[in-house]
Amino acid sequence: MKILAIETSCDETAAAILEGPEPGTMSQNPCLQLLSNVVVSQVDIFAAYGGVIPEIAARSHLEAILPVIHQALNDAHLHPQDLDAIAVTHAPGLLGSLLIGTLTARTLAILWQKPLFAVHHLKSHIYANWLPTASKSSLEKVPAFPLLALVISGGHTQIIYMPEHNHFEIIGTTRDDAIGECFDKVAKILGLPYPGGPSIAQCAKKGNQRKYPLPHPKVDDLDFSFSGLKTAVLRSVQNACDLDITTPSYELKKHLSAQQKADFAASFQATACDILIEKLELALERYPETKSLVFAGGVSANQALREKARQVFEKTQSGLNLRLFFPELQYTGDNAAMVATAAYFEIISGVQPTDPYKLNILPRTPIK
Ligand SMILES: Nc1ncnc2c1ncn2[C@@H]1O[C@H](COP(=O)(O)OP(=O)(O)OP(=O)(O)O)[C@@H](O)[C@H]1O
Ligand SMILES: [Mg+2]
Repeated sequence: MKILAIETSCDETAAAILEGPEPGTMSQNPCLQLLSNVVVSQVDIFAAYGGVIPEIAARSHLEAILPVIHQALNDAHLHPQDLDAIAVTHAPGLLGSLLIGTLTARTLAILWQKPLFAVHHLKSHIYANWLPTASKSSLEKVPAFPLLALVISGGHTQIIYMPEHNHFEIIGTTRDDAIGECFDKVAKILGLPYPGGPSIAQCAKKGNQRKYPLPHPKVDDLDFSFSGLKTAVLRSVQNACDLDITTPSYELKKHLSAQQKADFAASFQATACDILIEKLELALERYPETKSLVFAGGVSANQALREKARQVFEKTQSGLNLRLFFPELQYTGDNAAMVATAAYFEIISGVQPTDPYKLNILPRTPIK
């Protein structure tokens, strides 16, 4: 079956077509083929503002959505009548952005008479780990259940337990900022370009991660908190520059040398990674039956995190047969290939299509 997926939850307008075996031929590792994958990012527009402006994002989606879908069909050498289903991100995300994607998908589902599947954005980030890749061909290359997924993105920081396909239990979540948001805000303090995550990772390469010790939040259980870490960086920068705590954050960058910026980037990145790893260790103690540890979302592109996770879990947990999964770098940020993959596993798990006349967007709903 061929699925056209549409993603517009934030500032990427994306469409992709995925082909998989017909439902009923359930296998742990079905042979999936990505026929096309088109992403138009608005990152260049928002670099000038240092962040996403929802109204501009929605208007940009409106301009890009039909050409992007057209391109996805062309790249796959398909016509609308060749499609078996349409999938779309309906939650969570920016209200105006979600509206453009869902209204387009609903209209096409009605016009082309295709079943419509509504997909939660975090499901898609997790299912990026099932996307076919050149190096991923054998059975052991897809995650085994039960698994723990660490979703680390611009809007979320969660640990999710998955006993099987399409079943999600949130076992830890952030109580304030998301980790990606924290990378972006710290980058702003240091005067590094938007988006902050890749800028911090790049700048940290020349830095000393032990130069500026930063605190770990004291949050019980498997929950996270990142707003204190952001403030700790702010205070530490003010202190290193001999400035008063009332000095506004946007004035600090001009007082920092290139080496200080690198040292702050490295110290922050190392602390943020350690916080994630500590919580994953605790989660594995609570869920010792876990067979795979799956990373998902924009921050899972971070190489320092990948290295640290491999060091910690592949070494100490090898007796448990724990396997680690990271999405290919091109699938860590928002794209529609992951939406199509999530929809495929929804369909073969027996999820029924949604009524295109009734589908609502849900800007802040948790994964279910
Ligand atoms: N190499 C990296 N290291 C750390 N953070 C990164 C890296 N690359 C991207 N990021 C961060 O990932 C975030 C974007 O990820 P993503 O696109 O998954 O989030 P989003 O779609 O905005 O939010 P959500 O998925 O929660 O709705 C940004 O905060 C960005 O700074
Ligand atoms: Mg996202």
